[in-house]
Amino acid sequence: MENKLEGIPLFACPVFMADKPEFLSVTRKVSKKFIDKRKKEAELNPNYPVYMTESINYDPEMLEFSNFVAQGAWGILESQGYAMDFFNTYFTEMWSQEHHQNSTMEKHIHGNGAVISGFYFLDVPDNSSKIIFHEPKDSKVITNLPERDMSTATHASTMIHFVPKEGQLIYANSWLPHSFTKNESKKPLRFIHFNVAVSAANQNQNQNKPTTVEII
Ligand SMILES: [Fe+2]
Repeated sequence: MENKLEGIPLFACPVFMADKPEFLSVTRKVSKKFIDKRKKEAELNPNYPVYMTESINYDPEMLEFSNFVAQGAWGILESQGYAMDFFNTYFTEMWSQEHHQNSTMEKHIHGNGAVISGFYFLDVPDNSSKIIFHEPKDSKVITNLPERDMSTATHASTMIHFVPKEGQLIYANSWLPHSFTKNESKKPLRFIHFNVAVSAANQNQNQNKPTTVEII
């Protein structure tokens, strides 16, 4: 008699990753322009050593990257079972961050209509920050048992980290909490952070099953 029980993972928290080094050149160039502008406007705060820019997706040079990222978010939502024939995706935010030594980012989620959040990593020195995704089910976190091996990602884990790579694109649903460990490198960590929302699609467009996205 077969005693093995089959586990069916319900209510999953997928994280999506892709290597897209072809966007590094233009995104580094545009990010540097906006970070340099920010540096002229404000001194680095030693207690919070990070520069964050204004929205950069309006820059004409970001159009191809922005379109790719927004289409990717649309595809993720469609793959998850959402009725995406009725929606376009657009950015509520896309900004560059430059994290200097000892900078960190505490656990948070994104509201303001965001449904997909993500990152594109520009410069990742050795010993800089790791990205952590956190278990979103508070009831599980509160009642969790000790883990057999905290170095292994299992269904018992309550947080899972990744070492980001330059040119790597990472997406997750915006309800999934994320954070960054401290940047221990003397060199800065740079990445683009973005939030994607949806708006109602044109009904006439729906008849042809839209695969394009609206960049706002
Ligand atoms: Fe975030």
